[in-house]
Amino acid sequence: MSTLTLTINKQRYELPDLDPRTTLLDVCRHHLNLTGAKKGCDHGQCGACTMLVNGRRINGCLTLAVMHDGDEITTIEGVGMPDDLSALQEAFKKHDAFQCGYCTPGQICSATALIDEVKAQWPSHVSSDLQVPDVLQIQEIAERMSGNICRCSAYPNIIKAIKEVLDAKVGVADSADMGTDAATKTGVVSGIWSPPASDAQLHSKPKATSDSLAETKAQVQGADA
Ligand code: FES
Ligand code: FES
Repeated sequence: MSTLTLTINKQRYELPDLDPRTTLLDVCRHHLNLTGAKKGCDHGQCGACTMLVNGRRINGCLTLAVMHDGDEITTIEGVGMPDDLSALQEAFKKHDAFQCGYCTPGQICSATALIDEVKAQWPSHVSSDLQVPDVLQIQEIAERMSGNICRCSAYPNIIKAIKEVLDAKVGVADSADMGTDAATKTGVVSGIWSPPASDAQLHSKPKATSDSLAETKAQVQGADA
């Protein structure tokens, strides 16, 4: 086959005789020694392999390298390196937004594109007003990041980090009654972030434990009868 030319992190690579079945992720990791993008599931479920193609986030494991001749590809190495971190990378460090760090390159690439999408006023599935991008409450960030799984469940701090950069770069104000801090304090981002909580869920009070226990007991007794 002919030579494939890829531009990754502003550097041009020529790949002669590449097997056309090779994914973009495998080209980066195994052919070019760009190991920042991670292989988690290898079939589009976890987002660990997220990279940017022409500024848009993409799962590197789900796309063939031969489809990207001439595209501008950015991996985490192009987002920022240890001596020159991006604002998001700094915010992830500051807010301790990782534990093992395996998902982190994908999270940061994804959040980098998220900020551009918000700047461009793209709606998300939970945006309530298409003309005025929503105040980016917890459920907005959660929905926009729902393609990236964190097995260590660092979601509350990931959201804090993203929120901080959004506030600085896009000027998104906190909601008066439920900003990220309030949401993280009340524990609504303690688990996996998809599906995002609705307003009603965010504002509802937890049911009294004794009521729940009484209900469960009555159900069990009913089932025994
Ligand atoms: S490795 Fe690509 S989505 Fe999981
Ligand atoms: S920090 Fe371990 S998977 Fe996210």
